[in-house]
Amino acid sequence: MDIDEINTITVLGAGNMGHGIAEVAALAGYTVVLRDINEEFVQNGYDQIEWSLGKLAEKEQISEEKADETLDRITPVVPVKEAVAGADVVIEAVPEVMGIKKEVYAELEEHAPERTIFATNTSSLSITELSEVTDRPAQFCGMHFFNPPIRMPLVEVISGEHSSDETLDTIEALASEMDKTPVRVHKDSPGFIVNRILVPLMNEAAWIVEDGSATVAEVDSTTKFDMGLPMGSFELADQVGIDVGYHVLDYMHDVLGDAYRPCPLLESKVDAEELGKKTGSGFYDYENGGAEIPS
Ligand code: 3HC
Repeated sequence: MDIDEINTITVLGAGNMGHGIAEVAALAGYTVVLRDINEEFVQNGYDQIEWSLGKLAEKEQISEEKADETLDRITPVVPVKEAVAGADVVIEAVPEVMGIKKEVYAELEEHAPERTIFATNTSSLSITELSEVTDRPAQFCGMHFFNPPIRMPLVEVISGEHSSDETLDTIEALASEMDKTPVRVHKDSPGFIVNRILVPLMNEAAWIVEDGSATVAEVDSTTKFDMGLPMGSFELADQVGIDVGYHVLDYMHDVLGDAYRPCPLLESKVDAEELGKKTGSGFYDYENGGAEIPS
C-alpha cells in the first residue's frame, strides 16, 4: 500500500503509548479509531487526548479549532471487529507481553481487510515471531514510538524477517507524515536500538541503589547534570512505566543472557504496583509533589 492510500488508522490499546499515538495520528489529519478492551480504558485514553489537546491549545501550539477538529477525528471503540473493519494501518500498543500480543493478532486477522498493514509498537519483542501468528507477515513491521509520543520526535521502523520493503517504506513515510523522524532498524533483535541502550541504563541505576551506593535522587542528579539527559534514569522509568522497562529487561535477559538480569528493586516496584506516574508513585511520589520515595 502506498502512503497516499492511507486514510484510517486504528490504534489498539488506549494506555500511555496508545492514546499518545492516536493523538499524533489525528493531529496529522488521519481518521483514527482508538480501541481498548473495555469502555473505561478506552474512555480514559480519549479523555487524556482531550486534556493534551487542551494543553497544546492553551499554550498556543495549536489553535482551539485544530484541537476540536483533531478530537473529532478520533472514535473510541471496544469491539475489535468494528475497530479494524476500515483500517488501512493498525498500530498495536497493547501490554508488552508476547502472549497478549499474539492473542490480539490472532483475533485481528479475522476482521482486518486484506490490505491492512499491521505495525507493532512493541518496545523489544520479536517482530518476526509476532508476524508469524498473522496471515500477512510481509505486511507487518515494528513502529516504535517513544514516551510521550506527542513530544518525542523519533520512531524506530523495525524490519522483521518477513517484512516487505513496500511495508517498511510506507510505515516510514507514515512516521514522517506524523511529523516524526523515522530510523530504520534492519535487524529484529531484542530492544532494537534505543531500548538496547536505555533499559540497561535504567537497570544499572537500580543496581546502584540496590547495593546501597547511592540514593535514587543522587543517581538521577548524575544522569541529568553529568550525562546531560533530560531526565534522570528513575524519573524516566517513572515516565515510561517501571513495568514496561521490567518486561523489556526480562525479555532481553531471556534472549540475550545474564547481563540483562532485572534488578530486584524494579521487580519489587512492579509487584507493589508502584509503576510510576501512571499509578501516582514509582521511585517518586507524584501525589506528594514528586518527592523521592526512600528505597
Ligand atoms: N500533552 C500536552 N502537554 C503535556 C503532556 C501531553 N501529553 N504531557 C505533559 N504535558 C505538559 C505538562 O503538563 C507541563 O505543562 P505545564 O508547563 O503547563 O505544567 C508541560 O507539558 C511540561 O513540558 P515541558 O516542555 O516544560 O517539559 P520538559 O521540557 O521537561 O519536557 C519531556 C518533557 C519532553 C518529557 C522531556 O523531559 C524529555 O525529553 N524527557 C525524556 C523522555 C524520553 O527519553 N522518552 C523516551 C523513553 S524510552 C521509551 O519511551 C521507549 C519505550 O519502549 C520504553
